[in-house]
Amino acid sequence: MEKLIITGNKCLKGEVVISGAKNAAVALIPATLLLNGTCTIFNLPNISDIKIYIEILESLGVKVTWNNKNSVKLDTRHIASTNSTIELTKKFRASYYLIGSLLGRLGSVEVGLPGGCQLGPRPIDQHIKGFEALGAKVVIEDEVITAKTDGLVGTNIFLDIVSVGATINIMLASVLAKGVTIIENVAKEPHVVDVANLLNVMGANIVGAGTDVIKITGVPKLKGNYIYSVVPDQIEAGTFMLAAVATRGDITVKNCTPEHLDALSAKITEIGAEVQPINGDTLRVIAKHRPKRTNVKTLPYPGFPTDLQSQMGVVLALANGTSKITENIWESRFQYTHALNRMGANIVDHGKFATFRGVEKLHGAAVYSTDLRAGAALLIAGISASDVTELYNLQHIDRGYEDIEGKFIKLGAEMERVEADEKEIELSL
Ligand code: EPZ
Repeated sequence: MEKLIITGNKCLKGEVVISGAKNAAVALIPATLLLNGTCTIFNLPNISDIKIYIEILESLGVKVTWNNKNSVKLDTRHIASTNSTIELTKKFRASYYLIGSLLGRLGSVEVGLPGGCQLGPRPIDQHIKGFEALGAKVVIEDEVITAKTDGLVGTNIFLDIVSVGATINIMLASVLAKGVTIIENVAKEPHVVDVANLLNVMGANIVGAGTDVIKITGVPKLKGNYIYSVVPDQIEAGTFMLAAVATRGDITVKNCTPEHLDALSAKITEIGAEVQPINGDTLRVIAKHRPKRTNVKTLPYPGFPTDLQSQMGVVLALANGTSKITENIWESRFQYTHALNRMGANIVDHGKFATFRGVEKLHGAAVYSTDLRAGAALLIAGISASDVTELYNLQHIDRGYEDIEGKFIKLGAEMERVEADEKEIELSL
């Protein structure tokens, strides 16, 4: 087990280049299982979730050739199995995309239930509702999902709740179904659009991704050889934008898609920092003063993203006045506030919302990250705090951010990853 020793009181300045989006890449990789051909994917983030996914595809019979750490060629002409073990699939959330793609391609699939960040119960009832509407029989037994069909047939599906995973998974299952599938009340996140774009590049017929209604007209087969590049990670970009505000710095975020960050840019401007869009793929954030207070409500895209809620919480913990964040997507996503309070913040977690009474400065502490974005938030808090912070449970961060330490150090942060022993970990809990 490792920990990060972070020396605080830093003001971050300079340029950072954003990697490909984790939440797009973990869907694009299984989407290639629908193709009887080869697909080379560029701009993949070099993170553990991606490595595990490639391991799963190899175990299914996909021929994998790594061009470099951010690009892989997948040959999906010979899929030998449609079963993936719980050991691999429980390591992360997005393994459930194997269901939509293998059900669509081969009519049967057996995968272990997904894992992922503990944000409260994470049901998959809407995914199953879609698969059953298309004509599949789905059984969940002993943490394994089995889905089978004699042939999927297009239909109309209205999602009970806006769900990124269900939108993408049902889209995957519909690509090779007979007839037309209309999915309503869908998620509009950039990664949903990215998956639809890849599928259309491979010969699918999908219109409406990024709107409230997606129409998929089934095609008999996807074949051929393709290349594709992953959309930039708007959550990684937003993480660095908020790090600039928390440290009163000046960061130029390169290789991002500014329009994917409109909700965040508006909030950052509202609290007194400056956001400068530069030539369509760069955002510069300059924060000269203590942030002003504000209120935030997380919503599905294009609303304020839940995956930037924790990082925004660090900024509001330091703001001038009292702020409120309402978390509308997940049941419990304020665990990080307890760690911030150990660093001198004054936050009350009410479950559905939290109130942040801003303080001038945080101080260092031993803190433990409970999920991927909480880990990123506590890292930012440590960089801005007055002295030294020890951050434990780094595997969460490693799942979702490529070389986050290297990127922060290049901006002026000071941190070192060292071994941690069990005893000290208990103390940090
Ligand atoms: C994706 O999770 C992301 N993960 C999450 O990012 C992100 O927080 C979330 O979308 C919302 O944007 C990946 O893309 C791998 P949902 P997902 O289905 O698809 C409920 C990160 O930090 N729901 O959009 O699992 C659900 O409980 C991670 O990168 C059902 O009730 O989220 C939640 O309240 C954390 N039934 C809401 O919908 C279902 O069948 C949104 O969930 C599915 C979801």
